[in-house]
Amino acid sequence: MTATVVLGLAWGDEGKGRVCDVLAHDVDFVSRYSGGNNAGHTVRVGDEEFKLHLVPSGVVREDVICTIGNGVVVNPQVLKQEVEALEKRGFDARARLKVDGRAHLIMPYHIALDSHREIGLGEQKIGTTNRGIGPTYEDKVARSGVRVQDILDEGILRRKLKAALREKNAVFENVYGETPYDVEELVAWLESYREFIEPMISDTGAMLRDGLEEQKKVLLEGGQATLLDNDHGTYPFVTSSNPTIGGAIVGSGISLKHVDQIVGVTKAYTTRVGDGPMPTELHDEVGGKIRETGREFGTTTGRPRRVGWLDLPAIKFAADMNGITYVALTLLDVLTCVEKVNVCVGYEIDGERFDGYPMHQTDLHHARPVYKELPGWEEDITGCRMRGDLPEAARDFVEFVETEVGAPLCMISVGSEREQAIVEKIGA
Ligand code: IMP
Repeated sequence: MTATVVLGLAWGDEGKGRVCDVLAHDVDFVSRYSGGNNAGHTVRVGDEEFKLHLVPSGVVREDVICTIGNGVVVNPQVLKQEVEALEKRGFDARARLKVDGRAHLIMPYHIALDSHREIGLGEQKIGTTNRGIGPTYEDKVARSGVRVQDILDEGILRRKLKAALREKNAVFENVYGETPYDVEELVAWLESYREFIEPMISDTGAMLRDGLEEQKKVLLEGGQATLLDNDHGTYPFVTSSNPTIGGAIVGSGISLKHVDQIVGVTKAYTTRVGDGPMPTELHDEVGGKIRETGREFGTTTGRPRRVGWLDLPAIKFAADMNGITYVALTLLDVLTCVEKVNVCVGYEIDGERFDGYPMHQTDLHHARPVYKELPGWEEDITGCRMRGDLPEAARDFVEFVETEVGAPLCMISVGSEREQAIVEKIGA
């Protein structure tokens, strides 16, 4: 039984899609387990670039079955657009994609609520992707959500929508001064996706479990990342799901006993989109250079990402909490543009040195990074395929990260092309 979980160790955009694409070369299933189309996974194959938001990145590998697990929230309109776009580019996406009937649907009113809430928060806004993610998960927990399987039963769908809209329409009318949503219009909207989605609706957890019993290989592809986790991240500046190891189990329907590798992905530096604390954020020329070189603009929203040095206490916390067995280090080539590389090894909080990751959010807001400066390198590393090919300074950086995080590296990406990677050990 081999299931490998790939998850982010920081605030997302670590290149999980890229890592999954490399690890997917010999797997049977690639599955998303949390989040929705707030994620943006970029995969490059030859000259082609694929930006995927909902469909697992395994779709670009022939013969891989892709599943969207029960823990994912699904916007049917986005799903259809993404599948059709992939089909236009020659991938038989529909035939190889299964969507769990328990996954919750993102409805137009969830997106409207997301946007009203953010406007209402003003300067305290979370900086969400405005895709309706939070309100959809809220409805799931409140037991007033609409699930993918409800599309198959118009009567149930109508009943659920009526119940969900009773309070929401009062809020839309009385708090936001908007026209209430019409149940019949929403039923018709969902019905318009029935023909498309029905053949894909499955019990994806059972599929994965059966596959694992037959010695098939499963790759669980995380969206978002540990520091955006609703429980373990920088709350309230987080997403509304658990993109950590527990969420991988709950959101895919497989058991802990099936998981034998957990790959934590981190960039060679740090980025964050949206608001919230980020102790190593750079506001200078170096940050700008990294942003430009690393093309650090959101895949989903196009927003410029906040850029900073690698924050080891945060990464170590994430590695420890998820129990990672391997690290995948991405975008090492981007650091070729900087003269000296800083790595945060601790914080100074209100005058005192602190080497762990603070539990108290106020401490994190006050944390000033303590850096270890490492020499940079000027050589082009995009052609390196073994660790020994790297210039000494890059090798030292990589080894420092590996030792500090305390888990072996399984992959170092040195460019955006599929083959531009040093692959040392494959967990899958
Ligand atoms: P939401 O998930 O749209 O509710 O956004 C909540 C927070 O998570 C915001 O700060 C977003 O910018 C951030 N976020 C959500 N998804 C991603 C992602 O895939 N990459 C990076 N940040 C994300």
